[in-house]
Amino acid sequence: MHDDLAPPSPSRRALLEGGLRLGLGLCAWACGGCGGPTGKDSAPVGASGVDSAAGGGDGGATDGCAEAPDALDASWVAVPLAANPGLAEVGGGVALDLSGRRLVVAQPSAGCFVAVDRACTHQGCDVAFREGRFLCPCHGAAFDLDGAVLSGPTPVPLASYPAALRGEVVWVKTG
Ligand code: FES
Repeated sequence: MHDDLAPPSPSRRALLEGGLRLGLGLCAWACGGCGGPTGKDSAPVGASGVDSAAGGGDGGATDGCAEAPDALDASWVAVPLAANPGLAEVGGGVALDLSGRRLVVAQPSAGCFVAVDRACTHQGCDVAFREGRFLCPCHGAAFDLDGAVLSGPTPVPLASYPAALRGEVVWVKTG
């Protein structure tokens, strides 16, 4: 009866579009535009002896290319490629215990690195990096490069950690 006195309400479409604009703006603000694939201090992967023809995939939500900060504090742990030849191969990954965390660190694409908790969030089996994703051998859970669930019996993602190449060392932020 008093509808003509009520303020006009925005349509659902207008609300969604407004939210999308806000989300994109926050992303650009938070990640500086999600820039290039390699850190400015990173050596080209070909120059480091990594075989870029070894395979690998990029089927996850990100390409795993993070840039290490200029100042690495004690929360970053060094993982030398020379001591971890499985990590030096594109598409390779290694199980590592760093700062008390059980991790898998992987190179999904040339010069790009990711790290996730190794214990599957279903029943704790060790996941491994295979064909561009983290796979659990026990009941088939699959996780993307960020640890998000792709499929499987668990809805819980793997915790992920920043990882970046600098020279011949992969740095993983464990804290
Ligand atoms: Fe990984 Fe069951 S323990 S899927």
